[in-house]
Amino acid sequence: MSLRSKIVLILVTVVVAYAALDNGLLRAFAGHAFGRWEREDAAQDLARVQRRIDAELQDLLGKARLYAGMEAMSRFVGGAAPAFADEDLGPEAMERAGVDLFYVCDERGTVLWGNVLDPSTRESVRLREFPREALSLNHEALLFRAQAGHVAGVMMTHLHPLLLATVPVRGPEGALLSAEVSGFERPAHGAIVLGRFLGPELKQRIVDGELALVSDKTHAAPRRIELLDPGAPDLPAELLRTEAGQVYRAGEDGLLHAYDRLSSLRTGEKLVLHVALERTIEAHKRMSVNYALLSTLIGGLLILLVLVRLLQRIVVAPLTTLTAKATEIGRRDDTSIRVGMPRTDEIGQLAGEFDRMLEKLAKSRAQVIETARLAGMSEIATGVLHNVGNVLNSVNVAANLATKKTEDLSLCDLEMLVGVLQSHERDLSAFVGQDPRGKHLVPFLSELAGALGTQRKSIQDELRALNQGIEHIAELVRAQQSFAGTKGVFENSVLAEEFEGALSICRQGLMTCGEIEIVREFAELPPVRVDKHKLMEILVNLIQNAGQALAERGGSERRLTLRLARAGERTARLEVRDNGAGIPAENLTRIFNHGFTTKKNGHGFGLHVSANAATEMGAKLHAASDGPGRGAAFFLDIPMQVTSVEEPALAAA
Ligand SMILES: Nc1ncnc2c1ncn2[C@@H]1O[C@H](COP(=O)(O)OP(=O)(O)OP(=O)(O)O)[C@@H](O)[C@H]1O
Ligand SMILES: [Mg+2]
Repeated sequence: MSLRSKIVLILVTVVVAYAALDNGLLRAFAGHAFGRWEREDAAQDLARVQRRIDAELQDLLGKARLYAGMEAMSRFVGGAAPAFADEDLGPEAMERAGVDLFYVCDERGTVLWGNVLDPSTRESVRLREFPREALSLNHEALLFRAQAGHVAGVMMTHLHPLLLATVPVRGPEGALLSAEVSGFERPAHGAIVLGRFLGPELKQRIVDGELALVSDKTHAAPRRIELLDPGAPDLPAELLRTEAGQVYRAGEDGLLHAYDRLSSLRTGEKLVLHVALERTIEAHKRMSVNYALLSTLIGGLLILLVLVRLLQRIVVAPLTTLTAKATEIGRRDDTSIRVGMPRTDEIGQLAGEFDRMLEKLAKSRAQVIETARLAGMSEIATGVLHNVGNVLNSVNVAANLATKKTEDLSLCDLEMLVGVLQSHERDLSAFVGQDPRGKHLVPFLSELAGALGTQRKSIQDELRALNQGIEHIAELVRAQQSFAGTKGVFENSVLAEEFEGALSICRQGLMTCGEIEIVREFAELPPVRVDKHKLMEILVNLIQNAGQALAERGGSERRLTLRLARAGERTARLEVRDNGAGIPAENLTRIFNHGFTTKKNGHGFGLHVSANAATEMGAKLHAASDGPGRGAAFFLDIPMQVTSVEEPALAAA
């Protein structure tokens, strides 16, 4: 993934995470606040309905007080004006007062006058809860409160819920209405009980008044207000169970339902107020939260775009250039390329450092190449000197022998013969023919000629070996002079002859190693194209190492076997085997390392140079040994179809 994509991904993740967190918090806090607002709205409705009902009760109370304050009423209750009821009380009076129930009781609860009108038909009806004859002194309508001195509240009846207000009627004589029940400070001798049914009409009136009020408010959510009997369906269980205040429920119909209970005169009875509110506030909340989310996202995206653009210009683009340059340098292996970024910030410094590093790299690379070249030269020079040294040993020995043999030439005999012949210069024929010494002259001469011939041959052999060695040295020196560019010259060679040549170079050296049996096992092989001098170099090294290994072992039956065979259809194998000191298994590959030697005066170059030479001519050199004291064998495998100079190099590669 590119740097740019990563940055974009990180920024997008940050924006989305921020938006999610912000939205979550907003939902939690705004949800809470909006929900409270919504409930407060419903609670206000509930409270206003409560107040309206209270107002109705106050109205009833006021009317009851009016009646109780009438002197005629006081006298009627005291039994002094029995006609009062027939004249001043009746359905018309009730209609005027706007009440559905009118009871006048004396201090014992005896109903002096009483009537109940159906709210819809306005006919007189019997109300189970209000007997016509008398109300018990425990009747809710007579349970005056000490503090208030009156009764006001809702009472459930079998017809409708009833708003009820009772006030005492005081007489001058102060006849008592049961003191512990009434708790009156002053004596009373009767009571006025007024009631108004909370029937459908009144309910509607209250609700309509409420709704009219609400609809005056701007942006008010549509709502439904109801006064429900306790038996109404779908009331929340907790409303009936507990005495807790209001109950709110978010309905599946998408409305908020708020419930409250009206205080009732009879415990256990509950007239329920219900407000069902459309959740416009909730909808507003959702919409605002969504708008907030949208604006956060849009704002975040805008910031993101600006940031990405800036990062692209300030960071990504320069880094991309830097990366492209680095890649190009790697691909083209060209340390002359420079980034060249004229900036002063960290990226500019990085680019500057990068360029400086390249500068140093180019310099040190040139140094390394030079060092490697010198090292290569010195390694090759070492190899060449080593081989020259090897050959010079043989050359030295051959020259010494030739000198010695020249010294040994039978010249004394010849000088002695010349002296004898000079002394008989005048009678040479008589001396040769008659003198007994002269008779030996011819056989002596022929013997001398034979001896001189043999000595000449021996000297010639040494001189030939000397020549061969010198030629080899010359070739080695030529190779050294032109090591960098030249490749060896390949010629058709008879491998057996090459073996013999190498052996003759080493012969004198081998002689210094004591008595060694040399075994030749040469198979018939066609001529093979090889670089003769490289081959010579390798064989001389192998034979010398074998001689040294045999010398190291000591003892008798020391054998050097030179074998020529096929190692496959197209490979010739030259093997140099000895039964000398042997090689430990762990050294079998190390012996080819430059400088590895186990010899006191060794250099560890011979096998290294030989292995390199083998590779250069497309051959392979490897060793085998059964371990210390059990001899060693070196194999040089040469491909036989080599016909050109380039091919071995290819094969070697
Ligand atoms: N025929 C052999 N038998 C046993 N060990 C051998 C034989 N040929 C080589 N080695 C081991 O391999 C080592 C490396 O041989 P190499 O010819 O490279 O170096 P060297 O003979 O020690 O020294 P120089 O550089 O003078 O030849 C030798 O020191 C020797 O331990
Ligand atoms: Mg050696």
